[in-house]
Amino acid sequence: MEIMTPSVLQRAQTELTGGIGRILLSEAEIHQRVREMGSQISNDYAGLNPLLVGVLKGVMFFISDLLRTITIPVTLDFMAISHYAPQHPQKKSVRLIKDLDETVEGRHLIFVEDMIDTGLTLSYLLRILKARNPISLEVCTLFNKPDHRLADIPLKYKGFDLPDRFVVGYGLDYREAYRHLPFVGELKPEVLQLT
Ligand code: IMP
Ligand code: MG
Repeated sequence: MEIMTPSVLQRAQTELTGGIGRILLSEAEIHQRVREMGSQISNDYAGLNPLLVGVLKGVMFFISDLLRTITIPVTLDFMAISHYAPQHPQKKSVRLIKDLDETVEGRHLIFVEDMIDTGLTLSYLLRILKARNPISLEVCTLFNKPDHRLADIPLKYKGFDLPDRFVVGYGLDYREAYRHLPFVGELKPEVLQLT
């Protein structure tokens, strides 16, 4: 195995960021906004021990940074879904592949998302959670692409509005790559064209 000397690390980083055309949000900008969101949640939910629910895997980075800026007791839980198209490839459906461990009834729920685009995935999951009778249910998303929203989603906490472009980094992937970039950037068109 190659030892990770500074020059090897630098080469790996250059390879990784080689596909990125433009950086939209720096690591510092993201962290500043996450801190603001964490302090808002800490104020709004003092004494309520909210249950923060995330959907794997994209939200991992945001939710772990957000949690560390929250100064009140909270509980953390995850769901996992898969997008699948059984008979009709043009009609994508969502399937729950991991449910929550926690009971929702009687809790104040905050649904935490990395990115809301059409809103269809989220509206499906919110319907499931509402049916379990939480005391309250609010949505917190770091990134929001409002341009082709198909479902009406009330957002209590929103980090950034983004243009209708495909972006990667800070948890967002392109075919499972680029999630671990600490910033958010646009992929070069030639990378997207490789599909
Ligand atoms: P939607 O709101 O149902 O359209 O789906 C939102 C999900 O699509 C997000 O949670 C992401 O996983 C994915 N997604 C949407 N836009 C992007 C993007 O620009 N980069 C990476 N993933 C995206
Ligand atoms: Mg997601």
